[in-house]
Amino acid sequence: MTRKRPTLSVILPTYNESTNLPILLGNLKTTLSEISHEILVVDDNSPDRTWEIAEEIAGKDDSIRVIRRITDRGLSSAVITGMEVAEGEIFAVMDADLQHDENLLPRMVSTLEEGYDLVVGSRAEEGGSYGQWSKRRRFISWVATFLARVFLPLEIKDPMSGFFALKREVFEDSANLINPRGFKILLEFIGRARNLKMRELGYHFRNRQHGETKLSGSVVRNYLVALFDLRFGKYISTTFVMYVIVGATGILVNFAGFQLGEFLKLPKVHTGLSDMLDPLWLSVPFGYQLAILSNYLLNNYLTFYELRHRGWDLLKGLLYFEIISILGLLVQVSVFQLLETNGFMEGLVSPEFTRYPSLAAGIAAATVSNYFLNRNFTWKDFRS
Ligand code: GDD
Ligand code: MN
Repeated sequence: MTRKRPTLSVILPTYNESTNLPILLGNLKTTLSEISHEILVVDDNSPDRTWEIAEEIAGKDDSIRVIRRITDRGLSSAVITGMEVAEGEIFAVMDADLQHDENLLPRMVSTLEEGYDLVVGSRAEEGGSYGQWSKRRRFISWVATFLARVFLPLEIKDPMSGFFALKREVFEDSANLINPRGFKILLEFIGRARNLKMRELGYHFRNRQHGETKLSGSVVRNYLVALFDLRFGKYISTTFVMYVIVGATGILVNFAGFQLGEFLKLPKVHTGLSDMLDPLWLSVPFGYQLAILSNYLLNNYLTFYELRHRGWDLLKGLLYFEIISILGLLVQVSVFQLLETNGFMEGLVSPEFTRYPSLAAGIAAATVSNYFLNRNFTWKDFRS
């Protein structure tokens, strides 16, 4: 016998919300008394044991289920996990920190029942507000929203919202296209799904009373990445583009490092190796080393943010990165030598200029091979 689906599944991603969650669950019970519903708490094994508190409440209430994820982490992937097991006809997602106004849920449900596919709880729509947001946070949100509307043809005024509801079919149709690493899950739905009938409903964003936000710091970066990925992802890998941009900044650091080395009067040492390496300007490896360090850190915190190394692991990652950089140098030198000695571009450009296409090819080969090596060793994604 199949069970009758509830109308609504409320999905609550939680991470260290032990104080907020019981209050919210109580509020939801009151607000949703007229709607058949289930509530799914998706907790990523919070250190403050939010899952334990949730399980205790769920033990006394059949409509509440708790998913405690041990190996996965992240807001978007938690929301997707919730949707995968949700049984309702309509899925609503909201923060568990009391910032989203649960009183909007019945209107979200009735709007979807009227024929809309997706409803956004909006701070920018009439009847809504950003609450007591700092000027800085408001500005960031404004820039982000502006970019989203330029990049993607969006009519939604609050695409950054983490408060929204959609029909089960919308999820089923686009779930396989969604990037679970991102944090802008709403943007993913809007960006990937085709021809959605959408509507915004205003609500007043509340201040956080307990606990702290988990999204600061990486928010801007994640957001820009999500945006770029939605717009250009089908043509080129966003990670690769970031890697190349970081590489380009490395060239500047390399120059600056050389200058610094000269300024510090780093000596020229006698190596006795070969005429070519004698005397060796220490400023050159010094600049190169600084560039490796800055490339490593930028890639760790920008390009591969989700897989970043922390604490002592940072050193392990740096060691891999160093070794791969030296391999890259060998790749570049080999490609250059190979092309030069085989007359690459000869006849096409005058002989004294063939070195530049050869150099460019060497750099390109080293960039690509370094990228794949780093992706597979330095920042290995153990989850896939
Ligand atoms: N399971 C799980 N895993 N939950 C998480 C994780 C995670 O890695 N990170 C955050 N959460 C939960 C939090 O416990 C909270 O319930 C909700 O997701 C949102 O996290 P906050 O830390 O409260 O985010 P915020 O308030 O800074 O950001 C909110 O506003 C943004 C708009 O500016 C969120 O609603 C964002 O989605 C929204 O874009
Ligand atoms: Mn919040």
